Amino acid sequence: MKINDNYLKLKSSYLFSTIAKKVKAYEAENPDKSIIRLGIGDVTRPLAPEVIKALHGAVDEMGNEETFQGYPPEYGQEFLLNAINDFDFKRRGVQIDNDEIFVSDGAKSDTGNIGDIFAVDNVVALCDPIYPVYVDTNVMAGRAGDILESGRWSKFVYLPCLEENNFLPEIPKEKVDLIYLCFPNNPTGMAITKDELQKWVDYANENESIILFDAAYESFITEENVPHSIFECDGAKTCAIEFRSFSKTAGFTGVRCGYTVIPKELVRDGVSLNNLWARRQATKFNGVSYITQKAAAAVYSEEGRKQVEDTIKYYLNNASVIKEGLNKAGFTTFGGVNSPYVWLKTPDNMTSWEFFDYLLEEVQIVGTPGSGFGPAGEGYFRLTAFGSAENTVKAIERITKRFKK
Ligand code: MLT
Repeated sequence: MKINDNYLKLKSSYLFSTIAKKVKAYEAENPDKSIIRLGIGDVTRPLAPEVIKALHGAVDEMGNEETFQGYPPEYGQEFLLNAINDFDFKRRGVQIDNDEIFVSDGAKSDTGNIGDIFAVDNVVALCDPIYPVYVDTNVMAGRAGDILESGRWSKFVYLPCLEENNFLPEIPKEKVDLIYLCFPNNPTGMAITKDELQKWVDYANENESIILFDAAYESFITEENVPHSIFECDGAKTCAIEFRSFSKTAGFTGVRCGYTVIPKELVRDGVSLNNLWARRQATKFNGVSYITQKAAAAVYSEEGRKQVEDTIKYYLNNASVIKEGLNKAGFTTFGGVNSPYVWLKTPDNMTSWEFFDYLLEEVQIVGTPGSGFGPAGEGYFRLTAFGSAENTVKAIERITKRFKK
């Protein structure tokens, strides 16, 4: 018997688990201190009343012989697929068929699992810094090679996102096979314009690459020229897969629902990737519960939409409190306009982890060290706008008091 020893190449603990452990240890030693958590991007506002109503209704249906449901359809209930299609695509002039949408338990699982349908020897291009799931799942699959002293992996093509390039990755000079893009970006909070994204789509079509486009934060877009879907770009259907999530849009981090779009025109080696993913899901996934899908569909009702939009405005307001407060205190910040994340430069040349420890120990604020998202994140730090308004104001007061110019 042999284990998959690619797992042994990984850091022993996932970034957010490491942070949680550190915070727990600090809390145990300092039970009298009040900690404010602006680290992991986990929502804090309760579910929208329309969603709650739908959940209760669906639970009652499951308790009634006439309306009880067993296994859900593998790829999503028609009522949810229709709502997704109408609101997220048709409304924006994007033509997607319902059988190109695969409802799932979230974008984290889908961005992690999508590698199942690709060969191990594909060349993977990744932004640096980046959401660690894309890196870790490719390490698990054996596509990463070995870790180098720089903290990078030998087989990946890195796309650095730095202040110099306004945190937008540059198109690789060489040919790559799989490209992970996340916009609005986690962790930098920066968005991409439609023209810039079009260049990636053109590159991918010319090079037969596939773009794995994570749009989990699209509902935070406030600016006009920022695309909500990669399929707003010409030719994206022959080179892109898109991941969406109800987690940040509608507070579903604890409910779990998302979806992935794989156009039928997306063909490689003469094989439809839509068919491959359908085959993968039918075998390894048993669909999302009826109750959850009813809740997700309620997000698209007229009332539901208003309610979730209000919550998004609430978080965006937190983002501007963070950004403006820090800017006033002399910090350099990025993101936070089309995103719930504010990316800041650490003060006094502290490393990302030094600043993490400093904030935790001195002012009891938890954030996420930039270097946890990749070597190019060193010297940066991420704060999330998903806390309560009250805690966000308090946190920024605590930080800025320490760092007054
Ligand atoms: C984050 O903090 O980056 C998010 O929680 C990531 C996620 O949604 O898994």
